[in-house]
Amino acid sequence: MQTIDSLGYKVYFEEDLKSLESFISQGAYSQVLIFVDRNTNDHCLPVLQSVLPNLVDYDIIEVDPGEENKNIDFCIGVWKTMLDFGADRKALMINLGGGVVTDMGGFAASTYKRGIDFVQVPTTLLAQVDASVGGKTGIDMDNVKNIIGTFTQPKAVFINPRFLETLDQRQLISGFAEVIKHGLIQDRDLYNKCKQVDVSKIDSEIIYRSVEIKNNVVLKDPTEQGLRKILNFGHTIGHAIEGYSLLHDDNPLLHGEAIAIGMICEAWLSNKYSGLSDLELQDITHEFVRQYPHYSYDKSIYTQLIALMKNDKKNEDGKIGFALLEKIGSATYNVFVSEDDIQLALDYYLSVSK
Ligand code: GLY
Repeated sequence: MQTIDSLGYKVYFEEDLKSLESFISQGAYSQVLIFVDRNTNDHCLPVLQSVLPNLVDYDIIEVDPGEENKNIDFCIGVWKTMLDFGADRKALMINLGGGVVTDMGGFAASTYKRGIDFVQVPTTLLAQVDASVGGKTGIDMDNVKNIIGTFTQPKAVFINPRFLETLDQRQLISGFAEVIKHGLIQDRDLYNKCKQVDVSKIDSEIIYRSVEIKNNVVLKDPTEQGLRKILNFGHTIGHAIEGYSLLHDDNPLLHGEAIAIGMICEAWLSNKYSGLSDLELQDITHEFVRQYPHYSYDKSIYTQLIALMKNDKKNEDGKIGFALLEKIGSATYNVFVSEDDIQLALDYYLSVSK
């Protein structure tokens, strides 16, 4: 079993989840709550039950799947259910699911009765390599992503690659965007490896390396005062596109799909502002266009997208701040970019992706 030490807790990588079993039995918890969405209730809870046969006494809290449900209304439902179950401050919440479950479950747990313990059992690639580690909890509001939330560290994270077998290819490719991002910002070798990987056969070493990169950044800057902003490469434009898609599309973009678009646009900005070479811009563009579906938008939505970007948490003094690449494997942050250039970056995506 491999582990990574994070901010006062461990990330465990193992197929049998035995560490979760001993974590629960040593914790003297008054009650165990398992937070799931409909998908993880159907496909992942049985896996958890089969590897933890001694875990018989627990209550389940279920929400509808999907980013559109990561909001205050659903969160109130979760708090009410916790209250109905009589959860006290010694209860433990196990968040079993993708990014929506780990973000919202972490937020609900960190605010209920001023905070109860929670652990993350991420079941999607996206949640395994990104959302479950680093203590960001939160919900969306008015299509602005993660605008309400806390920094609260889980008591442990348990990563079981078996859960990825429950995912379809679209979900895997979405999560893979965050792995590519970790390569782009910190590790050229990982990026090059990503170019050769068949996502449906992603190996646990790539997941481990991806978490290691994220964790090293988080350890240096837990509350995103500076360096941690590099983890948001692709996310300023990507979150705006994701927020727009959630509002307007019947089948909205998944997080990683929107971030892939954001990374193409922000690679263009990196070429203009932070030294990314023409050759590397082409390479990154080619890689994302090859793997991710095309998304069309009309220039008439740019004002709306820029309005969403103005709510981004990385902004300072009303200026839109970006994390950009200096080269593949190295990133910088607090780069303030003109609105004209943001529009040109959005044009660039449309010109290269068909
Ligand atoms: N997902 C970016 C971060 O955790 O900082």
